[in-house]
Parts: sequence; structure tokens; C-alpha cells
Amino acid sequence: MIQYFIRSYNYRSPLKRSRRRSHYRSCIIIIFLLTLTPFIISIFYSLFIFQLNYFESYSSNVIISLTSTPERFHHELPFAIHSLLSQTQLPKQIRVYLSPTSLITQRENLTLEYLRANIQNLDLSEIITRLFDKLVEIRLEEEDYGPATKFLPIIKEFYSDSQPLMICDDDQYYHPYTLATLYEYSIKYPNSIIGFRGWRVRNDLIWGVPGKYEMAYHIIESPYLAKIYRVGVVTATDAYLIRPSFFDSHIYNDFNQAPNDIRHVDDIWLSGHAAKRNITRYVVPSCCSHIGVTRTHALEQYLVNNKMNRLSANSHALTWFGENWEKDLWYRFNGANAPEYRSWWRIIYREWISLIFKLKFIMYFGFI
Ligand SMILES: *[C@@H]1O[C@H](CO)[C@@H](O)[C@H](O)[C@H]1NC(C)=O
Ligand SMILES: *[C@@H]1O[C@H](CO)[C@@H](O)[C@H](O)[C@H]1NC(C)=O
Repeated sequence: MIQYFIRSYNYRSPLKRSRRRSHYRSCIIIIFLLTLTPFIISIFYSLFIFQLNYFESYSSNVIISLTSTPERFHHELPFAIHSLLSQTQLPKQIRVYLSPTSLITQRENLTLEYLRANIQNLDLSEIITRLFDKLVEIRLEEEDYGPATKFLPIIKEFYSDSQPLMICDDDQYYHPYTLATLYEYSIKYPNSIIGFRGWRVRNDLIWGVPGKYEMAYHIIESPYLAKIYRVGVVTATDAYLIRPSFFDSHIYNDFNQAPNDIRHVDDIWLSGHAAKRNITRYVVPSCCSHIGVTRTHALEQYLVNNKMNRLSANSHALTWFGENWEKDLWYRFNGANAPEYRSWWRIIYREWISLIFKLKFIMYFGFI
């Protein structure tokens, strides 16, 4: 009997031990994989980003509207348009509105043919040229709306329509998920303006906050957000999505009666009119940052030439809409009503993705 046990023990024990060992091994492998997964996903995703180019996946019914200046037309604008043609979800149209300042009407090189050639200088691929021919158009406006040319003519054209419009600047290389992200949130929140960057208004209606730390609380940027966040003013630099039905005709009819400095701070003009109509403005979370390609600061130069500055122009515009800003949304110092930020590891991941996009940009276009 004893012998039997001994024999059977001897017989079983290697199996038992190896089973325990394989248990350990599985545990270690699982832990190892779990630790490695974020890296594997990041590497996989990075490779995907490098391949991600011009696949005409879906087309949305969003129209992109922007404006440019003679100084930016041949430098910044081609980058912006290239990024808009490389979106994972494509727009229905891209419209570049130009104001008929004497400069623009006199110059002969502010045309679609020049823009097309500039973009071909950046990228010779057939698909970009084909998309350009299909989607991009230039419109010369009769009235000069300054920077507000990016949205006033198109809001007027689609008056009270629910046509989604993405409004953006001409000096950013937009990341490929810009349109897709804005559109996705605009379907979830159909009666709100959806943007990637914005700030809350101070109840003394003074623009800006002092100091780097306060500034970090004040300017809300989408890659750091964990959840959507209501702001007072959305900014066009990082793009936003509106529908003309959010506004009434005051947004363009009152424009020419407004003081000159207020007419030049278009973000506050648009957000003020939205506030008047109870249209919420949200900054939403997004995957990554855009790449700035600014060379000339046209607006700053204009303000300086005309003895104005951005601070006083912004504060003046905030006072202009003083009654309209939402009282429950005043900016509070020291982050008292700051948004919820992403966990640090997700921020690292977003930074990594932004870095990959930047690397890809440099590989394609060099350091600009
Ligand atoms: C466009 O035309 C203007 C004069 O009309 C000229 O000064 C400028 O250099 C031209 N720009 C390019 C990129 O051809
Ligand atoms: C906005 O909301 C306020 C208060 O709820 C209301 O009095 C006002 O009529 C609303 N305005 C519009 C344009 O809906």
C-alpha cells in the first residue's frame, strides 16, 4: 500500500510540478502581455498612421469653410488644404473665401490654379490632385468681412439650414481625425457648436489671465480632456463645427455696424451670437494635436497697424456681448471649475500619437 503511494507519488509529482510551473508561466506571459499591450498597440497604431494616407474611406456631408490672405495663400494655405484632403472622413466641399480687398483683386496669382500647383509642390500623388479638383473651390466675396469671412458668407448662403459646416484657419496642418471627430460629436449634440479649443469668459469681461499656470487652466485644449467641456468662446485655430440654423441674420446684418476692432475678433463675434441664441459651445476630447504652420501673423499686424491690440479688442468684444454670456459659466481662477483631465498614461499615449504625426509631417515636408 505504502509502496503504491510512493510509486504513485513519484508517478504524479513531475506532472503536478510541471502543471504548477505552466501555471506560473501563463501568469508571467499574461502579465508580460498586459504590460506590453499598450506598447504593441502604440507601435501598431504608429505603423498604421504612416500608412494612413488618402484612403477615400467615407465622404461626409460636411462643408469646410476658411479664409486666407495674400501673404498666407502660397505658404500656409497649401498645408492646411493638404491636411483637409487627407482626412479619414472627407468633406463634401472645401471652400476658400477671399475678401475683395484691393490686394486680392489686383493680384493674379490668388487663383485655384496657383493653389493646385502649390499643393502639387507638396505632394505629387494622383489622389490628392483628384480630391483637390473634386472638392476645393475659391470664392471671391463682394463684402469684406475680414477674418469673419471664414464663416459669414457661408452662414448667409445656408441661412437657417442645418448643413454642418467645419470652420477653420489657414495656418494649421489638421490631424486626420479632425473632421471625423467633430462630426461624430455634432451628431451626439446636434444643437451645439463642437470645437477643439476654447475658453470661458471672466465675469469682469476682461480677456485673458495672468501667468503660465492660470493660462493652462484657462485655455481648454481637446487632447487633454477626459470629457466634453462647456466654454464661452470656441476658437477657429483648432477648427469647430457649426450649423447655420444656430444663428439668425443678426450675425451678418449687425457686422458692419460693429466697431472695427470687434469686427476683427471673429471667435468672440461667433460665440457671442451663439450665446444670444442659447447655443452651447463644447470643447470635445480628441486623439491628438494639430501642427501649427504659421509664418505670418496677418491679424496681429493689422491690429498693430491700426493702433489696436488683441487684448483690448477682445475685451471690447466681450463687453459688447456682456448680457449674453451664460452666467453659470464664468471662468473661475485656480482651476476651480476646470475640466476633468485625462489620466497621465492616456496623455502620454496622446502625446506619442501627436509625435508620430509630427514625425510623419517632417518626413513628408521637412522642417518648415
Ligand atoms: C504673386 O503676385 C504678387 C504681385 O502681384 C507678387 O508680389 C508675389 O511674389 C507673387 N507670389 C507668388 C508666390 O508668385
Ligand atoms: C434663451 O434662454 C433664455 C432663458 O432660458 C430665454 O429667456 C430666451 O428666450 C432664450 N432665447 C432663445 C433665442 O431661445
